[in-house]
Amino acid sequence: MEFLIEMSGIHKSFSSVQVLKNAAFQLKPGEIHALMGENGAGKSTLMKILTGIYKADSGSVKVKGRDVMFADPKEAEDHGVAIIHQELNIIPKLSVSENMFLGRQLTYGKTGIVRDKEMKRKTREYLQRLGVELDPEAAADTLSIGQQQMIEIAKALSKNAEVLIMDEPTAALTDREIEALFKMMDQLRREGVGIVYISHRMEEIFQMCDRISVLRDGAFLGTEKTADTKVEHIVRLMVGREIGERYPERSSKIGAERLRVENLSDGRKLSGISFSAAAGEIVGIAGLMGAGRTEIVRMLFGADKKKKGKIYMDGREVAITNPSQAIEAGIVFVTEDRKHQGLVLGMSVRENLSLTNYKRIASAGVISAKKDYELSDKMIKRFNIRTHDPEQTVKSLSGGNQQKVAIGKWLGELPKVFIMDEPTRGVDVGAKKEIYSMMNELSEQGVTVIMVSSDLPEVLGVSDRVIVIHEGRISSILDKAQMNQEAIMLAATGGSSNGH
Ligand SMILES: Nc1ncnc2c1ncn2[C@@H]1O[C@H](COP(=O)(O)OP(=O)(O)OP(=O)(O)O)[C@@H](O)[C@H]1O
Ligand SMILES: [Mg+2]
Repeated sequence: MEFLIEMSGIHKSFSSVQVLKNAAFQLKPGEIHALMGENGAGKSTLMKILTGIYKADSGSVKVKGRDVMFADPKEAEDHGVAIIHQELNIIPKLSVSENMFLGRQLTYGKTGIVRDKEMKRKTREYLQRLGVELDPEAAADTLSIGQQQMIEIAKALSKNAEVLIMDEPTAALTDREIEALFKMMDQLRREGVGIVYISHRMEEIFQMCDRISVLRDGAFLGTEKTADTKVEHIVRLMVGREIGERYPERSSKIGAERLRVENLSDGRKLSGISFSAAAGEIVGIAGLMGAGRTEIVRMLFGADKKKKGKIYMDGREVAITNPSQAIEAGIVFVTEDRKHQGLVLGMSVRENLSLTNYKRIASAGVISAKKDYELSDKMIKRFNIRTHDPEQTVKSLSGGNQQKVAIGKWLGELPKVFIMDEPTRGVDVGAKKEIYSMMNELSEQGVTVIMVSSDLPEVLGVSDRVIVIHEGRISSILDKAQMNQEAIMLAATGGSSNGH
């Protein structure tokens, strides 16, 4: 048997839109195989067909040489094929171990009596294999997204699959968690497990994967050995053209002070947070995962309560104790967790785009349907949001396109301060560049952009200044001349470089 998985001639349409056209994919035992392509290329859909979540319109799927077409994920698992989804499937109110064993609880024989202790023990064991210490009894919604992701990964591992599909597993993980995951993947590879690895992070792909397959617009373009190819070649295959520099050229026109925060603290993690940002400036916020970056911007937006401190806009103190006051003051915020905070997934692209733009499209409280349509059409074109119809639900967009909606929905009316938390997470190379261009465009129009990011090259590529956070405090503020990878890492790990 040469292949664990062989998919060929796969066609799939949703309503009348063809999403996969003659797609193919092959996986060998003991390889980590990257599946790449732009947002909306069809990667997740192809893997959902493999695991029985969607049904292909036509085509063939073979597992270990045998023709199959799984009816549901359970059947796929019974045949040794498990998937870790791009969007988390954690149930917030259940505990860690309840989530781990959801739908397959351990019982004493057929008695139906749940082996609670055993499940907790196993949960702890699998998490420990990934280097994660978590209380099996903790409610899932008290955990960070990264920790929730680790539960999903541990859950898939506990199924002892021969084929493991990972759909953007590292998007929300810390460097340490990623390292543990990669070790685990290496071990599985040695054991002969085949891993399908979907990611937009080139560095990870070239570090971990043996082969790379590329999809473009739902069609299979080819498979390359990682050792014999280059990043540029893969990018060209994915987007069908050269995209040039990763970070668009930018002439910053920095204006007067726009935002100033003084001595902000939340009485828990954060203290003494003071900085300012000017009109037209792009300020990066860097730091290790858990340092308090998200907490700072949430407090600025009034999403979390501040204990102490003052916020000034254009020199005047503003009271911000909730998000509506922040929006009123001209501050908008795109969160890192688009599933839970940024978007209403069950509503259409148009509705999501107009949700926060209502001021623009409503007169005297009545929403004008015509303006609503015009505005959403404009946004869809401007950000190249891949949707076949503005009425399509956001839930059915690809991950990266959901992110574009999350950003676009704030831009009906220009804000004064635009805060983005991990804006390019899960976004493909081309769309990343579109988001950077959009940030530049905003800053050129005088908007202050504050970007939290874990991607150091990105922080360096787009920011005018970088604020580095370490354990709830500002450890350094670096201007353009001082900004480099080493200086940021040093400050992020507690070493100070400019005595701040
Ligand atoms: N249930 C659905 N109903 C309608 N359209 C869908 C559905 N699921 C996916 N699509 C569409 O199929 C296309 C492919 O989506 P898919 O999620 O497979 O992309 P992807 O390659 O995984 O992208 P990303 O990198 O953004 O995750 C997209 O245009 C998406 O809008
Ligand atoms: Mg996807």
